[in-house]
Amino acid sequence: MKALTWQGMEDVQVLDVPDPRLEQPSDAVVRVTSTAICGSDLHLYSVLAPYLSKGDVLGHEFMGIVEEVGPEAGELQVGDRVVVPFNISCGRCWMCDRGLFAQCETTQVTEQGTGARLFGYTSLYGSVPGGQAEYVRVPHADFGPVVVGQEHSDERYLYLSDILPTAWQGVSYASVEAGDTLAVIGLGPVGLLAVASARHRGIERVIGVDLVPERLDAARRFGAEVVDMTQVKDVAGTLREMTDGRGPDGVLDAVGMEAHGNPVFAAGIKAASRLPGPVARTAIEHAGVDRLAALHTAISAVRRGGTVSISGVYGGMVDPMPLLQMFDKGVRMRMGQCHVKQWTPDLREVLAQSSDVLGVESLATHRVPLSEAADAYAMFQAKRDGCIKVVLQP
Ligand SMILES: NC(=O)c1ccc[n+]([C@@H]2O[C@H](COP(=O)([O-])OP(=O)(O)OC[C@H]3O[C@@H](n4cnc5c(N)ncnc54)[C@H](O)[C@@H]3O)[C@@H](O)[C@H]2O)c1
Ligand SMILES: [Zn+2]
Ligand SMILES: [Zn+2]
Repeated sequence: MKALTWQGMEDVQVLDVPDPRLEQPSDAVVRVTSTAICGSDLHLYSVLAPYLSKGDVLGHEFMGIVEEVGPEAGELQVGDRVVVPFNISCGRCWMCDRGLFAQCETTQVTEQGTGARLFGYTSLYGSVPGGQAEYVRVPHADFGPVVVGQEHSDERYLYLSDILPTAWQGVSYASVEAGDTLAVIGLGPVGLLAVASARHRGIERVIGVDLVPERLDAARRFGAEVVDMTQVKDVAGTLREMTDGRGPDGVLDAVGMEAHGNPVFAAGIKAASRLPGPVARTAIEHAGVDRLAALHTAISAVRRGGTVSISGVYGGMVDPMPLLQMFDKGVRMRMGQCHVKQWTPDLREVLAQSSDVLGVESLATHRVPLSEAADAYAMFQAKRDGCIKVVLQP
């Protein structure tokens, strides 16, 4: 089959790889009909290069048709139309019982000390072949795949695999209620769906921050007021001014470790990622290579006693954090990989409605054949050609 493979720093290629087969009794094989490129894939494209091996198949946002099921794949049937969550969880361990599916104890990568296995996401998360491919082996298929109806297009449901529940969890973790103001830092696909989710959940005032004109426009369409960070000197100060000097009640960081704003760190990340594997891994884990511009903005902007919610992925271990300010302001923080299945039952209902209430069908700006995925990665990374979200069609 054809699949998008990682070949090196900022080098991905669609190549022929062996077809996936059932390996465990609870496996299924899914024929992919749509698969997306995520902001998290951009970390693999550059910063997390030391954790990848040549030939790794990327991709963790995908949906399709079940082609084969093992004898213990539960109720899943050949022919089912499914969206597959990016975390692989068993559904019945201590963590899964508590809804903490991103920490599943059956699939945790204990040798790395990390949480549940993820599709297409480095040796840190189990090196599981991903979904930017014609076919995927889906472990724990008795629990993971979310069966969806036939009534809507793929794009109505595709984002259930990751960015929609991620955005939804990010809003939940920001602990905002009707009457509160939520600021969303970063208006990529996650930030935009966070704006849509918050508005849908009755948060009337959502303020989005980014620097890319098309993304600011999209956020306005999704119902946010916006701050263009190229037009203001001090984003946090501007957010406070917009909220009676106090700051937003909740601030969601939907940017992560590659934030714009600190060229010195930016150069450091690139340099560290190009070192030989073990050296680079040490540099990333012990020197700290995150660019924290967005997170610092969130901490500075949030009102005293307010909540900072982090959906953006951070990777370094010893970055300097404004602890003095965090403590003095008494902010609450929540973060982590999305526990996808915690949110999919409700979200599936929202998406199945006849109208597209969250506007998910308007998110993709580019739909391209899988064979053109390499160019699509470069375009998405550079935010060229108005690119916000790419859907690949195998
Ligand atoms: N927690 C999870 O489970 C989970 C799931 C999916 C994605 N993510 C993470 O969420 C983040 C966003 O993903 P995405 O797909 O929307 O990616 P993206 O890269 O398209 O979006 C990031 C946005 O942040 C903006 N930005 C950069 N620096 C900024 C700054 N200093 N202030 C304000 N905006 C800034 C960029 O212009 C861009 O629009 C990534 O870090 C991704 O890895 C986490
Ligand atoms: Zn993702
Ligand atoms: Zn589990």
